[in-house]
Amino acid sequence: MSVKHKSNITRRKLINALLGKEYISGEELAKELGISRTMLWKEIENLRGQGFEIDGLQSTGYKIIKEPVSISADLIASKLRTKIIGKEIIVFESVDSTHNYCKNIRLTKQTDGIIVLAEKQTAGRGRLGRNWLSPKGGIWISVIISPNLPISEMNKIGLLAALSGVELLKTYKINADIKWPNDIMVYGRKIGGVLLEAQGETDLVEKLIISIGENINFPSEKIKAFAPESISASDILGSKIDINDACAKLITSMDENLMKLRKHKWEKIYQEITKNDMLAKKRIKVLLPDSTELKGLCRGITSQGRLLMQYTDNQKEELSVGEITKVYYEHKT
Ligand code: BTN
Repeated sequence: MSVKHKSNITRRKLINALLGKEYISGEELAKELGISRTMLWKEIENLRGQGFEIDGLQSTGYKIIKEPVSISADLIASKLRTKIIGKEIIVFESVDSTHNYCKNIRLTKQTDGIIVLAEKQTAGRGRLGRNWLSPKGGIWISVIISPNLPISEMNKIGLLAALSGVELLKTYKINADIKWPNDIMVYGRKIGGVLLEAQGETDLVEKLIISIGENINFPSEKIKAFAPESISASDILGSKIDINDACAKLITSMDENLMKLRKHKWEKIYQEITKNDMLAKKRIKVLLPDSTELKGLCRGITSQGRLLMQYTDNQKEELSVGEITKVYYEHKT
């Protein structure tokens, strides 16, 4: 496990200075960033190490010729204007699990809002103790926040994260939706999911890890043996998407949604969740943790993030945990 890159403010500014301009001289750059020429040279070398092609001529100055195709902490950071998450971004070339890595980070002022990404994971974790295959080409991301919300609000955060995953795909015209509790689906096939882990001494969650996995730039064939129902963005589009752009969009969407929640605008997020709820009005089977299987009509998601079921005797019930084991597409009411 080796950290590939950590974002830093100087390089974030350097990228912004080098983008959208013609050649800019070393002297001008060093002055703009308030650093020495030696430091500037080191930062430029660091960016080259992240896959940037930077043309550097003594006489004419520097210019970015090509952006990296693999995940770059500083390129993503340079695209962000976030308020809650993304102060620091860590990128691994390979890690067991970004989620586990975040579990082992102590919550401090510095680590609140930290983002951990990996090109690939060797022991990715899914919900309910499942494995999560994470080859190169996906977005495997974990974020630490300190929400100070009661544990009962975590259903909302899981849905909020899934909504962000859906919003990302919609920017590429992929019609994704949410399958309660927090799967990201396209054409009834899973394209991504959310894993949450809350820590705290009291009922209030002090440290929360929000992790999202989305199948982006690899054929779902690659994980078929393990996840036969899965699909990827490149399967749907027939081409790859810019992974750094996609990461920045996902982080931005999460940040905006978290900001709405902080500003007591949950209703706005909830509206979007219900618009993208794939289970509403469908007959489904739900497996409860005690192995009871329920069959009924799904009446949607409640404003508390629970699943509203209606049974044949017209009784209604709100579920806060459960696993959807079957969706009957033919019965719509
Ligand atoms: C699920 O639907 O079961 C949740 C999948 C969550 C996968 C992500 S990928 C990034 C993070 N690291 C992990 O080990 N798991 C989560």
